[in-house]
Amino acid sequence: MINVLLVGSGAREVAIARKVKESSLESSLFCVAPNTNPQIKKMSSAYFEQSLSDVFSVVAVAKKISANIAIIGPENPLELGLVDALEKEGVSCVGPRKAVAKIETSKAFARNILDSCAPEKNPKRQEFSSLEGCEDFLKHLAEGYVVKHDGLMGGKGVKIYGEHLHSVDEALLYAKSIVDIGGSFLVEEKLLGEEFSLMSFCDGEHCAHMPVVQDHKRAFEGDVGPNTGGMGTYSFENHSLPFLSEKNVLDAQKTNEKVALELEKQTGQKFRGFLYGGFMLTRSGVKVIEYNARLGDPEAMNVLSVLETDFIKICQSIVGGTLSGVEVSFSKKATVCKYVVPEGYPENPSKNFEVFCDQKNKNLYLAAVQEKDGAIFATGSRTAAFVGINKEVGVAESLAELGVSEIGGDLFHRKDIGTSALIKDRINHMKEILG
Ligand code: AMP
Ligand code: GLY
Repeated sequence: MINVLLVGSGAREVAIARKVKESSLESSLFCVAPNTNPQIKKMSSAYFEQSLSDVFSVVAVAKKISANIAIIGPENPLELGLVDALEKEGVSCVGPRKAVAKIETSKAFARNILDSCAPEKNPKRQEFSSLEGCEDFLKHLAEGYVVKHDGLMGGKGVKIYGEHLHSVDEALLYAKSIVDIGGSFLVEEKLLGEEFSLMSFCDGEHCAHMPVVQDHKRAFEGDVGPNTGGMGTYSFENHSLPFLSEKNVLDAQKTNEKVALELEKQTGQKFRGFLYGGFMLTRSGVKVIEYNARLGDPEAMNVLSVLETDFIKICQSIVGGTLSGVEVSFSKKATVCKYVVPEGYPENPSKNFEVFCDQKNKNLYLAAVQEKDGAIFATGSRTAAFVGINKEVGVAESLAELGVSEIGGDLFHRKDIGTSALIKDRINHMKEILG
């Protein structure tokens, strides 16, 4: 019997829990998270509702249930060193230790790792912990810069010229607000192109790559509005995207492989977990936007929906360093995932309203919710996701749209994600960029 401890309770963790339950290996699932997600609770032998900020009490839960393996969903516990603490107690972890998770938790560290192993993937950039020299660099980049708070900001610490910033003064004001709270920031050249996510299972030496996914970070249709954790995603049946060549995908895969090896070189520790490369195809080739040290959310719902290989076996090979011996395969189907989020999200979300949906639907993933007396209430972040799966991306989109529009509550979603009109726009945009 394998005791699996799942850390986290969002839609991504529902996707992970379902794969654990589907495994042919005999296991018991346990979950520790700050909210009770009723879908995960139903699959779990025991559910521990508690904050994840207190590493000591999460370790106590792992000991209590005699966990053999822990799967870490979100990034914050990685930054707090949960994996280091669990490994000290003999619990194997799918998720990297603190020093290695810096690939996500520090944008400057990630850029420096790339400088050592794939420098051509970096945009022009400078790191700052004060405003000194910042104005000159912004002016040097003229009208193409991005200012990034260097820390975990849930995808909301990045401001882009032309969208969120309209002048050097505005950029300096944002930079000052970061410095004033003791933070540091990066100024980067603004890259132009199409973004895509490539995640890999990684045992520190070997990477098994997942299908490529495109996320939609902006809150509103037409890619406008503030950045969010991700409003929805799609993937194609051939595991690539229509604006990417085979060479582009191989290039991104190679970059994840190089980053995994470079991390061990620089930290002395292996990256064991899910390595997430956020890329952009630009006129000058594939570039890196960011790295994450976990499965993407919503990307996890796309790729795990089509994963054919036994998930616990993959997890065991990640922690055991034997991933190269496992054939990881995905079914040849397209997926579209759409999130419903509270009205006002992300800046001023409506909260504590009841959510109405069919919890038993296997394509529905509850996220930021709290169960109370059998009812579900939204807690303010992304509420629930629905995934459509089909050989045709168009059909997958219709299924996702139908599923998501049946979820009741003070909610909205992006209708455009995965539609043929949006995908055509993406292809045309890429053609324009490549000239
Ligand atoms: P990040 O948190 O680094 O993923 O950034 C959030 C979003 O900001 C990304 O998904 C991109 O859309 C955008 N972004 C970040 N860095 C850049 C860049 N150097 N050039 C253009 N867009 C960027
Ligand atoms: N979907 C983007 C992320 O998980 O960071």
